[in-house]
Amino acid sequence: KKTISIAIDGPAAAGKSTVAKIIAEKMSYIYVDTGAMYRALTYKAQTNGVHLEDETALLDVLKQTTIQLEQTEAGQAVLLDGKDVTREVRSSEVTNSVSITAKHRKVREEMVARQQQMGNQGGVVMDGRDIGTHVLPNAEVKIFLLASVEERAKRRYEENLSKGFPADLEKLKEEIAQRDKLDSEREVSPLKKADDAVEIDTTSLDILGVVDKIMTVINERS
Ligand code: C5P
Repeated sequence: KKTISIAIDGPAAAGKSTVAKIIAEKMSYIYVDTGAMYRALTYKAQTNGVHLEDETALLDVLKQTTIQLEQTEAGQAVLLDGKDVTREVRSSEVTNSVSITAKHRKVREEMVARQQQMGNQGGVVMDGRDIGTHVLPNAEVKIFLLASVEERAKRRYEENLSKGFPADLEKLKEEIAQRDKLDSEREVSPLKKADDAVEIDTTSLDILGVVDKIMTVINERS
């Protein structure tokens, strides 16, 4: 079978990373969580007092920053300048500001270049918002995952509880809706289904149901 690239996009908390990880494992491909890269930059900027609206300052920070995504037994680790920030980048402070970081054209150009380098050998499952449209426009398989805001908030609520993070269902619903709005309405590479992506509504599917559907698409195209 030929080695392909798999792009998985969709709104916040649609289950992209969960299914992307499982598929990468099944295929023995690498998994690249591009959201973690925007989160890592957001965290570093916040820690260093850099204003997220300041595109030039953010780009400067990014250019002096290494972001590595490592597969470990416990899952994927995010290394920011060599330091493990896997947990920090999931904080609500980062989550609720990351869309500001991600709206800047110059920041995106640098991130996309790094992501394309990670994916240039094929054999990759990459998830994000603009993978099928901009990062891997030639990916053999493009998936767009959807689910209702209620369902996504419920899943994130349960995930937060299991990780020991504070969780408030109504607040999560508002935050997810707000992040979707910012990500969909931004000028540069907004969240959008690629014309050739397969749309899967996961609202009434469990994880393995979603994985099965994606594997069917993969088997058709590889
Ligand atoms: O996927 P995740 O929810 O971790 O992404 C965090 C944020 O990073 C998104 O809300 C979005 O603002 C940004 N992002 C992006 N493009 C990507 C991946 C993430 O703009 N490819």
